[in-house]
Amino acid sequence: MYAIEVSNLQKTFSSRQGWFGPQKTERALDGVSFHVDEGETYALLGPNGSGKSTLIRILATLLLPDAGSVRVLGNPLPGGEAELRRRIGRVSVDAAFYKKLSARENLLYAAQLYRLEPRRAERTALAILERLGLDQRRFYDPLEEMSRGMQQKIAITRALLHDPPLLLLDEPTTGLDPASKRQVQLFLEELRAERGTTIFLTTHDMA
Ligand SMILES: Nc1ncnc2c1ncn2[C@@H]1O[C@H](COP(=O)(O)OP(=O)(O)OP(=O)(O)O)[C@@H](O)[C@H]1O
Ligand SMILES: [Mg+2]
Repeated sequence: MYAIEVSNLQKTFSSRQGWFGPQKTERALDGVSFHVDEGETYALLGPNGSGKSTLIRILATLLLPDAGSVRVLGNPLPGGEAELRRRIGRVSVDAAFYKKLSARENLLYAAQLYRLEPRRAERTALAILERLGLDQRRFYDPLEEMSRGMQQKIAITRALLHDPPLLLLDEPTTGLDPASKRQVQLFLEELRAERGTTIFLTTHDMA
C-alpha cells in the first residue's frame, strides 16, 4: 500500500472582482500524479504559486480537487475525513495559534482536541521540544512573545503530539536558522527511522 497515491489531480480557483467584474481563474494543479511509499520522505520543490500548498491542503482533507483521485493512508478522498485526520500531522506555513496563550496552553488545547491524556501529552510535548532545541523555559511564554522560528518549533510539536503515521509539512524549515533547521531535519530523519513515519514536505531549499 502507498501512503499517498494521487492521480491526474486538477484544481482551479475562480474568483470575481466585485459584483460584476470579470471572472478570474487560476489553475493551481493540472494533472498531478505521483505516489509516496510508506516510510518514505518525499520533498516537493517548486516556484511560488506552483500549487504546493494547494496539494498539501487537498492531502490534508481541507480542500477538494475538481478532478482526479486521491488516496491517503489507504483512504480514498472524499470520505472518512474525521478518521483520517487523526492519522495525519500537518504543519502549515502560517500556523494558527492563540497568541496570548502560552506554548503549553496551545499544545494542551490541541492535545484535548485529539483526546490525548493531558499529562502524557505534556511530557510528549516537552520531549519533542527538547529535541528541536527549544529552551524549556519558553514553554510557559505566550506565543506572541516568541520568534517566528520558535513558533515554527511549537507548530511542529503540535503536529506530532498524537504520533501520526503521516506528516504533511508545508515549508517546515523556512525561517529557521541553520542550526535549528538541522535539528528539525535530524528529528524528522529519526522519526522515520524509529517509527517508519511517512513524511511529505514542500521546501524552497535546493540542498
Ligand atoms: N484560496 C485560493 N483562492 C484563489 N486562488 C488560490 C487560492 N489558493 C491558492 N490559489 C492560487 O493557486 C496557485 C497555487 O498556489 P499555492 O499556494 O498552492 O502555491 P505554492 O506552490 O504553495 O506557492 P509558495 O511557494 O508561494 O508557497 C496560485 O496561483 C494561487 O494564487
Ligand atoms: Mg505554499
